[in-house]
Amino acid sequence: MVSRGELYRACQAAMEQADIPDAAFDTMCIFQDCLGDRNPLFSPLEAVPEETEGLIRSMTERRISGEPLQYILGEWEFYGYPFRVGAGVLIPRPDTETLVDAVIRICRSNGITAPRIADLCSGSGCIAVTLKKELPLADVTAVELSEEALPYLRQNIALNGADVHLIEGDVLAEDTAEKLSGLDIVVSNPPYLTAEEMADLQTEVAREPAMALYGGEDGLGFYRELTPLWKRSLKAGGWLCYEFGMGQHEEVGKILAGNGFENISFTRDLGGVIRTVSAVRP
Ligand SMILES: C[S@@+](CC[C@H](N)C(=O)[O-])C[C@H]1O[C@@H](n2cnc3c(N)ncnc32)[C@H](O)[C@@H]1O
Repeated sequence: MVSRGELYRACQAAMEQADIPDAAFDTMCIFQDCLGDRNPLFSPLEAVPEETEGLIRSMTERRISGEPLQYILGEWEFYGYPFRVGAGVLIPRPDTETLVDAVIRICRSNGITAPRIADLCSGSGCIAVTLKKELPLADVTAVELSEEALPYLRQNIALNGADVHLIEGDVLAEDTAEKLSGLDIVVSNPPYLTAEEMADLQTEVAREPAMALYGGEDGLGFYRELTPLWKRSLKAGGWLCYEFGMGQHEEVGKILAGNGFENISFTRDLGGVIRTVSAVRP
């Protein structure tokens, strides 16, 4: 039988040889997942059971083939909460925590203790579920269309014990928007990659669903359609909050201003990129 140390070195070396970025981190995550220890290398001489060795080797092979680590593990953390992920659903990104922070800040600084919130393009549900956990009195509805993403969304609502309502529907359709009215906050991280960006995706990102990524030729299609449509579902004084891609802030700001929104303000993510906007419906 192979020892933990030997197997670890073999898997990390195989990943490095295949130019997998963060090979050491990815190997450690796979070992933790399969062996259950926080640091499996504390006992490097311990033998790895044959079945577990097979599992670790096959997960390493999947990673070498370009599959995202998060899909291989089947679960990823967002804002300290666990989210089930796999092929068909976008992996929650740390950048999106900035959007959640913006919504929480709006609620706290305006004394909105029981906000009515709609999360459009909900995907894994990372935004909707986190907001419900952090603002327990909020009434949160998640809206998602993808048949592949919806099972993850349902699982993540249950996994986190979050009482989030779910609408299976097209966020660009009038009849979906008409289902919700008098909202305090509409929040969305819609697909926002351009056609050019879609043609040049990193290997791992190319495994994520195009429907979660592509925002039309210039990446701004969803902002153009969602803003006038969902403005009607907001109460006067309600907030629209978006995440967008690097360099899109000016255009998204113009779309909001052109639709009569006020108090347009931007925030940066942890990497310093202008990443979110919030604006008020007068
Ligand atoms: C960028 S992902 C965001 C997922 C999640 N909110 C997050 O932040 O990780 C966009 C999501 O929009 C969904 N989507 C795309 N077009 C849609 C539509 N017309 N109606 C509803 N959802 C849509 C995709 O399936 C995907 O889950």
